[in-house]
Amino acid sequence: MANLNAVERKVREYSFTDRDFERVRKLIHERAGISLSASKQDMVYSRLARRLREKGLTTFADYLRQLEAGDAHEWQAFTNALTTNLTSFYREAHHFPILAKHLAQRRRVCREPFTVWCCAASTGEEPYTIAMTVVEALNDDAPSARILATDVDTNVLATADAGIYDLERIESLTPERTRRFFLRGDGNHAGNVKVRPALRKLITFRQLNLLDAQWPVRGPFDAIMCRNVMIYFDKDTQRRILEKFAPLLRSDGLLFVGHSESLLKHTDLFKLRGKTVYELAARTQVRHG
Ligand SMILES: C[S@@+](CC[C@H](N)C(=O)[O-])C[C@H]1O[C@@H](n2cnc3c(N)ncnc32)[C@H](O)[C@@H]1O
Repeated sequence: MANLNAVERKVREYSFTDRDFERVRKLIHERAGISLSASKQDMVYSRLARRLREKGLTTFADYLRQLEAGDAHEWQAFTNALTTNLTSFYREAHHFPILAKHLAQRRRVCREPFTVWCCAASTGEEPYTIAMTVVEALNDDAPSARILATDVDTNVLATADAGIYDLERIESLTPERTRRFFLRGDGNHAGNVKVRPALRKLITFRQLNLLDAQWPVRGPFDAIMCRNVMIYFDKDTQRRILEKFAPLLRSDGLLFVGHSESLLKHTDLFKLRGKTVYELAARTQVRHG
């Protein structure tokens, strides 16, 4: 109880009304497509309170007024504060053998670089897992592959780009993978690992908001990984994004989604190939040269 009171006192450090909360919900929905449920009021408070502190403001109303006045830097900080970035290496691991098999099949018929777009890359564990999968599938440390990793959040992209993680983040990896793909820090860097440059080189990190009308990406992709991000979007937004994925996939390409994301309502666009893995429905297949 004592703890709860302490939390409550902290929560009241800045004025944050229901109206402010509704405003935040509307703004993040418009900007990043993220639908925050009504139960997220405390979360929003704690994530944005730091911005008020840094700006020396005492009310959310003042903060939101400044934000809407159009400071691009603050808009990015606002977005970064409200994204949820949970991820891990080999998350939903059943996808990676499927990706490896797809790559092997493709390699038999085509010598072009294997291309994957990871469109909610967070702090990088997912695109690095894709890169490890490609290297292992081809048993080549410099495979012909192009992995594009994007996210709306610039903070997580900076972490991903650096490729430095706490040792415990890779504890579940086999010793062989650890040796092959990571360098162990020593001295001041003890307790950290860094992705080896050869693996890092396979990935291009770039900011991309899935809500944007134009995506500066060049397909076609052999696979698109869009995992655990659609859950934050409403149905119309999900549909618009899926419609834009279809022409970016090769006709035999695969779309991977998160474990709680079903495309059952979009069978005109994608058909189920395996657990949370989809291929283009016949109607949406586009021929790429
Ligand atoms: C829960 S993480 C999932 C990370 C990874 N895909 C995984 O499955 O482990 C969701 C990610 O989606 C990103 N995101 C949220 N809205 C986005 C948008 N409109 N465009 C691009 N990325 C977005 C967040 O910044 C966050 O890093």
